[in-house]
Amino acid sequence: MATETAYSTTLNPETIRRDFPILQQKIHGKPLIYLDNGATTQKPVEVIEAMNQYYREDNSNVHRGIHTLSNRATEAFEQARDTVAQFLHAPCREEIIFTKGTTEAINLVARTWAEQNLKAGDVILLTEMEHHSNLVPWQLLAQRKGLVIRYVPVLDDEGILTTEQVAEMLTPEVKFFAFTHISNTLGVVNPAREFCALARERGIVTLVDGAQSAGHMAVDLNDMRPDFFVFSGHKTAGPTGVGVLYGRYELLEQMPPFHGGGEMIDRVSFERVTFKKPPHKFEAGTPSIAEVIGLGASLKYLSNIGMDRIFSHDHELAAYADKHLRSLPGIRVLGPRTNRAGLVSFHFENVHAHDLVTFADMDGIALRGGHHCTQPLMEKLGLHSTARASFYLYNTKEEIDHLLENLQKTLSFFAS
Ligand SMILES: Cc1ncc(COP(=O)(O)O)c(C=O)c1O
Repeated sequence: MATETAYSTTLNPETIRRDFPILQQKIHGKPLIYLDNGATTQKPVEVIEAMNQYYREDNSNVHRGIHTLSNRATEAFEQARDTVAQFLHAPCREEIIFTKGTTEAINLVARTWAEQNLKAGDVILLTEMEHHSNLVPWQLLAQRKGLVIRYVPVLDDEGILTTEQVAEMLTPEVKFFAFTHISNTLGVVNPAREFCALARERGIVTLVDGAQSAGHMAVDLNDMRPDFFVFSGHKTAGPTGVGVLYGRYELLEQMPPFHGGGEMIDRVSFERVTFKKPPHKFEAGTPSIAEVIGLGASLKYLSNIGMDRIFSHDHELAAYADKHLRSLPGIRVLGPRTNRAGLVSFHFENVHAHDLVTFADMDGIALRGGHHCTQPLMEKLGLHSTARASFYLYNTKEEIDHLLENLQKTLSFFAS
């Protein structure tokens, strides 16, 4: 089996693993090999402790109280907003809105900015590699308002989208362009800065789905300059139940609220209501306080390690997996051969992805099998499902070797 176990990056996954208590366990008597990071990532002690401390020592509602606990909770909550703004290099902290996750953030934009600004006949441009979260909200809106959706096509198994393709499709009828930064099925990294620049030159508003990128590579919104950028805490080594919508302040100011309730109002009478300024206008009700604090802790943890190092490590693992997987008989590997993000999807003609995942689990390996919430892409590629191995800073090349051994065993079983 493969022996190229040295890393070209300075990141040492063996040391990092000690920060993640969940990785210390065995599954079916074998050490857990967690390769389902595209679905959700594991949490370091720092995140668990930050949430624990909030509940043990500071638990209180935010923004409302005058007492000490409430002040402490508010401070920790608002500090997390600063951390997110710094992490993304957002122009200002008021552009950071806390949501439940990527899905809610995209729905927020659909139900506010897009509802207000798009009219029948306008075109929304998406790509064929979008997650259902970045498809369905636009399909619902298009049905309601008579909008047209066009898709930048995925032309082959590599799935690389070019600026030429995108420029050609950004025609005058297109008013909005939403695309994923990293495809959760292909591992393609889209040139978000270039796509946003092409749209901006034409006066088209952009949304970048950063669900797979924010926790895995350095994101600099000052440089990328999208109008909206979204991600989920649970994919950045943070908790579930929290995510972020970054929105350009000028747009946020003009957008109507998403949800109505407490926290987001300026004044309410029986007849009328006025709203707070962003971000509070979009944060109705008691937020996920512990989760926001946990998210702040996760982004600090990742920043301390270094996002460029994390990306290089993920990429190195994915390139290693890609190379060795391609030597297995009958395999079809999706995604680019170079510049791949930290995940690899693959398909065998004679073995269903669910069988691969079940056999992997017996060896303690957590893989994902299915359509990965990208059914239209699967259909386009003539597939029902793939198996996916997705990597993070705590994964090692030895773990990929175990996966390769396991796949060989599974293939032999189904061949006999
Ligand atoms: C590219 C992409 N977009 C959106 C989502 C949805 O994220 P969430 O379920 O956290 O809202 C995912 C989750 O897998 C994703 O991979």
